[in-house]
Amino acid sequence: MKIKEYLLVKKQLVEDALHRFMLESDGTFDDHIEAMRYSLFAGGKRVRPILCLAAAEAITDNPRLLNDLILVSCAIECIHTYSLIHDDLPAMDNDELRRGRPTNHIVHGEAEAILAGDGLLTFAFELLSNPKSDLPQLNRLQIINLIAQAAGPKGMVGGQSLDIAGENNDISFEQLQRIHKSKTGALIRCSVQAGAIGAGATDEEFTCLSEYGTSIGLAFQIVDDLLDATSTTELLGKTAGVDQQLGKATYPSFFGVEKTRDLALNAVDNAKQALIPLGNKAKQLTDLADYIYLRTC
Ligand code: IPE
Ligand code: IPE
Ligand code: MG
Ligand code: MG
Ligand code: MG
Repeated sequence: MKIKEYLLVKKQLVEDALHRFMLESDGTFDDHIEAMRYSLFAGGKRVRPILCLAAAEAITDNPRLLNDLILVSCAIECIHTYSLIHDDLPAMDNDELRRGRPTNHIVHGEAEAILAGDGLLTFAFELLSNPKSDLPQLNRLQIINLIAQAAGPKGMVGGQSLDIAGENNDISFEQLQRIHKSKTGALIRCSVQAGAIGAGATDEEFTCLSEYGTSIGLAFQIVDDLLDATSTTELLGKTAGVDQQLGKATYPSFFGVEKTRDLALNAVDNAKQALIPLGNKAKQLTDLADYIYLRTC
């Protein structure tokens, strides 16, 4: 299947599953549930769930395992969506547009937006620990632990803290890379790792996929920086050019746009190299790496 079609098919699968799993208003916690749904169902590329499923498909074609991983991939998308809601808050990047719509706090108010993020994060772990899953218990525990680590103090949240501390400050290349690998790379890598574990990857396969995840996670944020610097608000569905306004530590601010493109490509090449031992099974992951470099939003 060509990558464009693959993305469409998987995105629909994730979309349908999110609708199945996500809470609906029932007259009790309506404001909170509506605030969560507002951002979760605002579009979004669903890259992390798709990477999780593609990593699993590189390892197994067992439909039961693949089906169980849909729930895992939805949990990761809930965590990602929470991170976007909080990232946009006035105290953080103070953004007013996300996924082509006014940001959560603009529509629901700051307090409800904070709670919508909290709700999505916690709900993700409710999904992951759902006793009905057919995934072997040990694999599930490992997945939950990896996701918690990736989302937590030494992963995404820690990275967001470094990102804020880095605003309008001189930082080293090592610090810049640490920000990118943690605030964005960690959750992307763990999406790939969760797919690998759920599919029963061997240690060797897990190592290859982890390396792929590390590189593709870094590439993803480098390209996000590039798009902020070179694309438009209309195309992105979020305000372009904010990084410079906020004095963010980004690859273009450090290296300029041309060199940043080379570095993004380099990270994508590293990701593809890591897949070589997996052979043809990793075709979609290879194409996903190219997509992450070539994407326009
Ligand atoms: C944006 O992520 C925030 C980053 C971590 C770079 P995405 O580009 O995946 O945003 P959506 O989910 O498609 O809206
Ligand atoms: C966000 O990075 C990383 C997150 C953990 C949400 P950015 O601040 O660059 O993401 P955008 O550009 O607002 O989507
Ligand atoms: Mg940010
Ligand atoms: Mg932001
Ligand atoms: Mg950005």
